[in-house]
Amino acid sequence: MRQNLHCDSFSFNQASKIWLFFWLCAVQCLFVGCQTKKTKTLEVMEEEQAWHEEPYRPQYHFTPQQNWMNDPNGLVFYRGWYHLFYQYYPDDTVWGPMHWGHARSKDMVHWEHLPIALYPDELGLIFSGSAVIDQQNTSGFGSVENPAMVAMYTYHLMEGEKAGRDDFQTQGIAYSLGEGATWTKYAGNPVIANEGIKDFRDPKVFWHEPTKMWVMALVAGDHVKFYESPNLKEWSHMSDFGKEVGAHGGVWECPDLFPLTDAKSGERKWALLVSMNPGAPNGGSGTQYFIGDFDGKEFVSAQIEAKWLDYGTDNYAGVTYNNLPEAERVFIGWMSNWDYARDTPTESWRSAMTLPRKLSLEKDEAGYWLKNLPLASVENLIAKTDMNPETIQPKDSLTLTGKDFNQGLGRFQTATQNFRLEFSNGKKNFLILEMDGSTGTFTLDRRASGKIGFHPEFGNKEHTMPIRITKGQVYDVSLYLDKSSIEVFIDGGKYVMTQQIFPDVDYDQLEVHNLDKVSAITDLSVYPMASVWIDAKEKRPVEN
Ligand code: FRU
Repeated sequence: MRQNLHCDSFSFNQASKIWLFFWLCAVQCLFVGCQTKKTKTLEVMEEEQAWHEEPYRPQYHFTPQQNWMNDPNGLVFYRGWYHLFYQYYPDDTVWGPMHWGHARSKDMVHWEHLPIALYPDELGLIFSGSAVIDQQNTSGFGSVENPAMVAMYTYHLMEGEKAGRDDFQTQGIAYSLGEGATWTKYAGNPVIANEGIKDFRDPKVFWHEPTKMWVMALVAGDHVKFYESPNLKEWSHMSDFGKEVGAHGGVWECPDLFPLTDAKSGERKWALLVSMNPGAPNGGSGTQYFIGDFDGKEFVSAQIEAKWLDYGTDNYAGVTYNNLPEAERVFIGWMSNWDYARDTPTESWRSAMTLPRKLSLEKDEAGYWLKNLPLASVENLIAKTDMNPETIQPKDSLTLTGKDFNQGLGRFQTATQNFRLEFSNGKKNFLILEMDGSTGTFTLDRRASGKIGFHPEFGNKEHTMPIRITKGQVYDVSLYLDKSSIEVFIDGGKYVMTQQIFPDVDYDQLEVHNLDKVSAITDLSVYPMASVWIDAKEKRPVEN
């Protein structure tokens, strides 16, 4: 085209030639540009389709498209989007120099993957932390009209660690005026230096309205430190909590502090989450909680013993969303365990997040409980609702067959708490769940559930959870299976177990045994769950 323009057979004057040149170039650019864009979109779609069909890829849980992920970070709701940042190593499927990966969602079920948000710099790798919306522009990073999203995270300086120093973790901040898409690191970093505490990390920041201050919870090995700041840049230490209470079998990590109100009594308390590795009830990593009071300066609790948010082996480093109404406390955890996280048998990606869960507080004769249950938006994925619920009489059994168990939701009610469930397949894989009402014990046995040999800690023992049995009470049981995970919720989320599983092929049989002599299991249904990736397929552009 360009050659033609310079061809002598054209009798245009110079000006016309120049105009035609620009016009043709514009047409060409538009054409070529559109073509490139179209091809790229198709490529991306192809990739999306391939990556969500890999073996063990969850169909309704968040996973990174590729490579390694651990803790959820910077959970913040802003302008209609739930942002999920996460510990990410973009170059391998095992842990490495940490970045913050980024995704966002309207319902916390369908996620949109976005470019990496934070990269390591000369102060270190970007470890876990949180994000807030600075509505009143206390930091001066944004304005009241366009407030900054401010991330606070831990810098981990590898050189310092390698040199055997104990001050290699410091706290830094970065801000975004583009809804988390672009970030600027604060020139005054680090905002909290380290005076010699080896494990000094994972800041969780929130706005405390009564004192009109930013409050931060930060872990320091075996306790939580609380700080306050008027502007997110200058921080003063206020108080410490936890040296003498709770579980101390490992290092404390990823704290979170927030208020909750007991729906029955109307009592408002504060919950403090603390993850710990190792030392969880069933081995390796786990998350404990404390219920107490917080006056803006100090957290106090009468609780001495450890209470666990989840008795499963695979719910770690979970924290809650900032910038939501107080009654909507939403939690997401990393669905793995440091014991074997690097070795799980997935290929191009590693690790998923738990389902998003709503937290609530309940008080009974035994004290305060932090309950967690999947969000209502997860229920929208139930792909078929016209099922006839089953009843299983005392001492009777039922065998169900089908192909939906590994991407399904099973539900039933039991008044006696004596039952046994067995998921199995033709490869002689068995996943066994049992509840014994006489001892108040729920057991999950994945020793023969499929692939277990990738790490000695994965399938070496049964995992148990204590249940308080109240005579005459009907317990609801919900089981969410998604290819390589099972999440068990009993009694409205008072008792929870989250576990990874790697069956050789999907389970296609479920035996339900009612082990009780007196009462029936009722309302048993197994619902197939939709894949969140089907939407991506449907949006596929048509080639012409
Ligand atoms: C928890 C944790 C955090 C740390 C991050 C590093 O899983 O160890 O304490 O910030 O992971 O990736």
